[in-house]
Amino acid sequence: MEVVELIRKKRDGQALTSEEIRFLIQGYAHERIPDYQMSAWAMAVRLQGMDTRETADLTLEMVRSGEEVDLSAIKGIKVDKHSTGGVGDTTTLVLGPLVAAAGVPVAKLSGRGLGHTGGTIDKLESFSGFDTALSTAGFVQQVNEWGLAVMGQTADLTPADKKLYALRDVTATVDSIPLIASSIMSKKIAAGADAIVLDVKTGSGAFMKEEKQARELARSMVEIGQRIGRQTVAVISDMNQPLGYAVGNALEVKEAIETLKGKGPRDLTELCLTLGGQMVTLAGMAGSREEAEAKLKATLDDGSALERFRQLVKAQGGDVRAVDEPDRLPQSPVQFPVHSPIQGIVTSLDAEAIGLCAMQLGAGRKTKESPIDYSVGVVLQKKIGDVVQKGDTLAVLHANSRAEAEAVQERFLSTVTLGEQRVTPPPLIRELVTAGQEES
Ligand code: URA
Ligand code: CA
Repeated sequence: MEVVELIRKKRDGQALTSEEIRFLIQGYAHERIPDYQMSAWAMAVRLQGMDTRETADLTLEMVRSGEEVDLSAIKGIKVDKHSTGGVGDTTTLVLGPLVAAAGVPVAKLSGRGLGHTGGTIDKLESFSGFDTALSTAGFVQQVNEWGLAVMGQTADLTPADKKLYALRDVTATVDSIPLIASSIMSKKIAAGADAIVLDVKTGSGAFMKEEKQARELARSMVEIGQRIGRQTVAVISDMNQPLGYAVGNALEVKEAIETLKGKGPRDLTELCLTLGGQMVTLAGMAGSREEAEAKLKATLDDGSALERFRQLVKAQGGDVRAVDEPDRLPQSPVQFPVHSPIQGIVTSLDAEAIGLCAMQLGAGRKTKESPIDYSVGVVLQKKIGDVVQKGDTLAVLHANSRAEAEAVQERFLSTVTLGEQRVTPPPLIRELVTAGQEES
């Protein structure tokens, strides 16, 4: 096979065969195909697209390029969840204990974050002593014993995706639905998921700003799952404002604990019940969405979801006292309220820019090597639709110094738009995308 022929074929809008896709991806992973040819192919895909069969083949070839996590020693159906990324998105910290308490085994591989705040691993490391460097055997054993474990990624999963993603990043080929869909799905499948629940965000703080694109991405991923025999559903959810109120590592841990106590922000709670309901249903632990959500609500009410979280922190060596005494989590020396200079109604928030405020305070990393500050971030006091009087606190900046908070204040104020008209907050859950659905 000649690589140039395959590039030409895609350039002219034809579909590549399974063998051709294997040849390209394995050839690239093993350095037989150079970056310049792969870039040309990626651009051809960006412009011509790929059909579902090609996208599923690409996904499987990326899975085969590296190790796969074997979770077969864990009893039950392993359902993984993935979010396309939002601001202040604390769902994983809540969902793990929540669905584990309902009897679904949760074996979560998580990454460190690059962006506004850390990833799930970073957030959990807000607990002093929390160890995410488990062996695979220890990981599996903990899930069988406690129903829940969270481990940092060690195995060399989907190296072809890593290489291709880095290439796409510098060749203007990231924003291709089949390339994004296969990239995300390959990582979930390599991590051992039997079934997958996707949270596809849309809005100002999302990767997919337009709802139409979010729907296309969701549909593409659900179709990949269907083709390769891993049941997949996607929830399209709003990211026009941060989820909950807290944006920052330990700040989000506190918010997650409140949510597990049944006292969390309404939007975060609703999203967790929706995603969790899908996970419980896919795991075969409930016959309907209503039954699944009722089961989950019961674990919030009777304290069993919070108890699972305690067990998780304890099993992985974290300071479990901080679950009941959150003041033991890292706290910033300065809490700086930002007051509204005018009155009005919050008509919009720039979620992404709020994330960047948290990052400027030190909550996120700019490069893989940068340190992270667990204590800092932004805690909103007002969200879309709220009435604001002049002088009201819009948010509290948790900072290392007054000077750092003052430096972020103006930037924060520019993320909030106040108007005169009443507005209803954007609906949180936009759509559920499942296999076999008609295109809407
Ligand atoms: N996230 C991914 O994991 N892959 C993409 O291609 C885009 C976003
Ligand atoms: Ca939050």
